[in-house]
Amino acid sequence: MIHAAITGWGKCLPPAVLSNHDLSSLLDTSDEWIVSRTGIRERRISHVGLEELAYVAAARALAAAGIPGGSIELIVFGTCSHEDQVPNMASGIQVRIGAQPAAAFDINTACTSFLYGLSAATALIRTQVVRNALVIGAELISPFMDWSDRDVAVLFGDGAAAVVLEASEREEGLLAEKLGCYGEARETLRVQGMGGRYANRGVLYGITRWQFEGQEIFKRAVQGMSSACEDTLTRLNLKPRDVDLVVPHQANLRIIEAVAKRAHLPLERVYVNIQRYGNMSAATVPVALCEALEERRVRAGALLLMPGFGGGLSYCAHLVRWGSRTTPLKSSTVELPPNERPALQIIRECLERKTRPSAAAPATPFA
Ligand code: UT7
Repeated sequence: MIHAAITGWGKCLPPAVLSNHDLSSLLDTSDEWIVSRTGIRERRISHVGLEELAYVAAARALAAAGIPGGSIELIVFGTCSHEDQVPNMASGIQVRIGAQPAAAFDINTACTSFLYGLSAATALIRTQVVRNALVIGAELISPFMDWSDRDVAVLFGDGAAAVVLEASEREEGLLAEKLGCYGEARETLRVQGMGGRYANRGVLYGITRWQFEGQEIFKRAVQGMSSACEDTLTRLNLKPRDVDLVVPHQANLRIIEAVAKRAHLPLERVYVNIQRYGNMSAATVPVALCEALEERRVRAGALLLMPGFGGGLSYCAHLVRWGSRTTPLKSSTVELPPNERPALQIIRECLERKTRPSAAAPATPFA
C-alpha cells in the first residue's frame, strides 16, 4: 500500500498585529470580553494579497521537504477568500514555484479546506495519479470582514501554511479521516457579498454582511468535531489515549476545551495557539501544525489527531502518523515584502476603498 507522508511544512503570518485593544477603538468591545469568550488576544492583518501569503508558506514547505518546486505534481489550494475564482488560486502558485505542468485545483469547505485538501491529495497519491503534492491552507479574511459587526470582527485573522506530501511505503501521513457536513444548518454562517450571487448587482468587492449564529455554530462545532474524532479513532480501533497530540481547528478556546472533554482527549495533549492568531479559517490547522513542530510538541512517529469545522457547516477529523523527521531539511530565503503600516491603518485604508462612492452601487446591496 502506498502512503502519503508529510515531508515538508511552512507557514506565513503577515507581520501586522491587531490586538483586542486596537479592536476596541473600532468597535464596542473589550479585551476582557474577547479573551473570556474566545481565548483570542490578537490576530494578524495582511498587507499583501492571498497568493503572496500562500507562496511564501509554500516556498518554506518546499525547502523543509528539500524538494524543488519544479518536481511538484499536484497543488491543492484550500481557501474561501479567493483573490480570483478564474483563474484559480492553485494555478498562480504553480507558476510561482515553477511546477509546470502540475495538476492544480482549489478546494473550498471554508475553515476545513486544508483538511479536505489533505484528504484529496492523499487519495491521489495512494491511487498513484501523482507521486507528491503541495497542500495549502491560506486565508485573507480581513478584506471581506464587516468591521462594524462586533459579533464576527473579533474572531478572525489572516494567515497561510502549506505541507508537502510524498509517496511512501512506510505507514505515514493520513491514516484515516471522517468528513461530514451539516448542510441543514448552512444558513447559520453565510457571508453575504462573496460569490456569484452578488456579481453584476453593483456590490463593491469586499462589501459584506455576515449572517452568523454564533451559539448554533458553537454547538454544531463541538458535536461535529468530537463525533468525528471518535469515528476516526474507531475506524482504526484506537483509543483517545493512543493520540500523542491533538491539533484542532482554532475558532474559540471554549470550543476546543468542550471537544477535548467530549472526545476524552486530555487538554495537555491539545495544541492551542488561538491567542496569537484567532480563527484563520483554512490556515488555522496547518499553522498550528507548523508551530507544534517548531515548539517540539511533535515527536518522531507521533499520532496526531486534527479535528476541524467550518462554514457549510463542514466538519472532519484527520488522524496522521508523523514520520521520523521533525525538523526542516532546509530553510527558504523567500520573504514577504516589508510592511510599515500598523494593522489598524491597513483596515482603515480597506474601509476607505469600500466606502468610496460608486455610481453602480445600490443603497441596499443585500436587499
Ligand atoms: O469557523 C466557524 C466560525 N464560527 C465560530 O467559531 C463561532 C462559534 N461561536 C462562538 O465562538 C461564540 O458563540 C461567540 C464567540 C461568537 C459568541 O460567544 P457567546 O458566549 O455565544 O456570546 P453571545 O453571542 O451569547 O453574546 C453574549 C453577549 C451579548 O450581549 P447580551 O445580549 O447578553 O447583552 C452580545 O451582544 O455578548 C455580546 N457580544 C459582545 N460583547 C462585546 C457579542 N459580541 C461581542 C463583542 N464584544 N465582540
